[in-house]
Amino acid sequence: MSEHPAGPLTADHVRIYEVGPRDGLQNEDRPIPLATKLRYLELLAGAGLREIEATSFVAPSAIPQLADADELMVVLPRRPGVRYPVLVPNLRGIARAEAAGVDAIAVFTAASDAFTTRNIRMTVDESLDAFAPVLARAGEHGWWRRGYVSTAFGCPYSGAVDPVRAVQVAGRLIELGVDEVCFGDTIGVGVPPQARDLTARALDAGIPLERIAFHFHDTRGTALANVAAAMSAGIRTFDASTGGTGGCPYAPGAAGNLATEDLVYFIDAIGLEHGVDLGALLVAARFIADALGKPLSTKVGQAGGWDPRTGQATGRD
Ligand code: COA
Ligand code: ZN
Repeated sequence: MSEHPAGPLTADHVRIYEVGPRDGLQNEDRPIPLATKLRYLELLAGAGLREIEATSFVAPSAIPQLADADELMVVLPRRPGVRYPVLVPNLRGIARAEAAGVDAIAVFTAASDAFTTRNIRMTVDESLDAFAPVLARAGEHGWWRRGYVSTAFGCPYSGAVDPVRAVQVAGRLIELGVDEVCFGDTIGVGVPPQARDLTARALDAGIPLERIAFHFHDTRGTALANVAAAMSAGIRTFDASTGGTGGCPYAPGAAGNLATEDLVYFIDAIGLEHGVDLGALLVAARFIADALGKPLSTKVGQAGGWDPRTGQATGRD
């Protein structure tokens, strides 16, 4: 299993896996110039993020916003110690990733067929069959590999999801060689007992804690509560999107990833390590909000951080 780019992790360290450039931008209508994406990626790495999901090598017709993935990954300056995973759905995608100098990928399926048939036009089982050669090839290259289990907390098409199925899919991904599985609350319907339950079931299924991540959307305001619940169960890896942008175009109502600035404030205030500079992150959040022509509406984006020595807000304009 490849190491985290920041080195071995401890119980005091929370890994923040940034998804803004991919999950954030894929759902935006306004075309975003390549130069804007590169600047956003640079600001995120400059703020201390060490894992930044950069783009997707999917069908451009499915996600037009990320159709410049090949060029982006060729020209993106790689910072030492920063991992830039990309989404790959099939062998076509991995050939593009190889040509663009990628060294970390994520495959993505779900806990419900109703979702995958719309998102990737395969059932869950078909997607696992399709990923097998993709993950094998990435493994031969020694690339880092992640597997998403979307709709693990609920599906926009079929409703409640059986956690047994979510964990079964995660177990299959682990068998196929992923370094990490990530359970996604794609439409932001999850609650803390589900986060604890999924963690316990995944552990029972033999998936180690350090290979489990969670991806929460804050659609209904439950994301940080879910993070806290997962943390209390021992999870230390969480996805978030700077500026709170994002969602999947094939998941109606998926707006609002957990904002990285909200997550960073929370982890910081608890006293755990994360390696991110909140002030610099807020600059990145404002940058992308401006580029998208939207106000920065995240909690910490508006309120700033807080300095307990002075009582004053920090990181605001
Ligand atoms: N990169 C570029 N183009 C690709 C591609 C890839 N990885 N995979 C397929 N294509 C192209 C094919 O060449 C074909 O193009 P054409 O119509 O010009 O001939 C077209 O896409 C359809 O290909 P096909 O193999 O029939 O795939 P499909 O229509 O069954 O779609 C996926 C399957 C997975 C490729 C597609 O649904 C997809 O990319 N989904 C991604 C959705 C996503 O990213 N959601 C957000 C993440 S949660
Ligand atoms: Zn998401």
